[in-house]
Amino acid sequence: MSEQILQAIAAIEAQARAAAAAAASLEALQAIERDALGKSGQLSQILRGLKDLDDAGRKSVGQAGNVAKRQVEAALAARKSALESAAIAAALAGERIDPTEPAPRRAVGHEHPVKTVMRELEELFDSMGFTVVDGPEIETDFFNFEALNIPPHHPARDTQDTFYAEGGAVLRTHTSGMQVRAMRNLGAPLRVVAPGRVFRNETQDASHEHTFHQLEGLVVDEGISVAHLKAVLDELLARLFGERVATRLRPHHFPFVEPGLELDFQCRLCMGKGCATCKQSGWIELCGCGMVHPKVLQAGNVDPERFTGFAFGLGIDRLTMMRHAISDIRWVMSGDLRFLGQF
Ligand code: DAH
Repeated sequence: MSEQILQAIAAIEAQARAAAAAAASLEALQAIERDALGKSGQLSQILRGLKDLDDAGRKSVGQAGNVAKRQVEAALAARKSALESAAIAAALAGERIDPTEPAPRRAVGHEHPVKTVMRELEELFDSMGFTVVDGPEIETDFFNFEALNIPPHHPARDTQDTFYAEGGAVLRTHTSGMQVRAMRNLGAPLRVVAPGRVFRNETQDASHEHTFHQLEGLVVDEGISVAHLKAVLDELLARLFGERVATRLRPHHFPFVEPGLELDFQCRLCMGKGCATCKQSGWIELCGCGMVHPKVLQAGNVDPERFTGFAFGLGIDRLTMMRHAISDIRWVMSGDLRFLGQF
């Protein structure tokens, strides 16, 4: 009787161990464990017959059952750890990094189109012997207005309304204040350009923004005339467009220059015939300019009896818009990625 039971135990053990060794998953191992060793598994059922055996049989079958149980458990544990190692190895293989693989294309930022034009202008003026200077965006009333011959109740202040801070500071309405700062800092003779951000209290529309960019130019030396002014701006346009461009000077009032002028260049789209871009005039305005007013030279501690100078103020956003055919200035500072992504 107990012989038969011992054989059955050996068979269960052999079968369970073979199955464990071949199991392909942790679930399969659990099923084998349940079938062989579980509460109503094969081994338990056989051991239920122990009560019918005599003492000696009970002892030998009991021991054999325990040994078989431990053997099967050991086989299951060994296979379990092998399966887990294989799973880890497979996961690692899937995550392996190939350093020779090209990097995935990711969206990276780039220079803003206004910044590109600004940088190109700086390089261009640098090559003409100008120094690039930087100034504060929050400016004193003195440098922004008064030193430029714009006293407190001058009507020119109406066209350049801005944001006023306590203590008389303003968000600068133009880069022209840098004329006086540069003369005070560097003295005459000098050639400087001052690019930067400027602000106005404007009602926004397609051609007006509260925040935009200018580049101020200033040359002071003995014997400087309007001819020098025109030569420099003609050269600027020739380099910007890659060929000579026709220009004209028109009188215009600015309190800080005398004479005050505006420089137009011939429309590049219609070559002067008249089109929508130049509003049928054949000309496009480039900048305000003129000969520096003696009072402004004086404010810069420069002797107007000895030195003369010219100045100009370029609108950088306008140049950028012309370059890329941007029809509405509000896009420029919008920070809208649908716009910026196009450059
Ligand atoms: N600051 C003027 C503006 O923002 C532009 C300007 C006009 C600058 C004449 C100049 C100049 O240097 O000479 O409207």
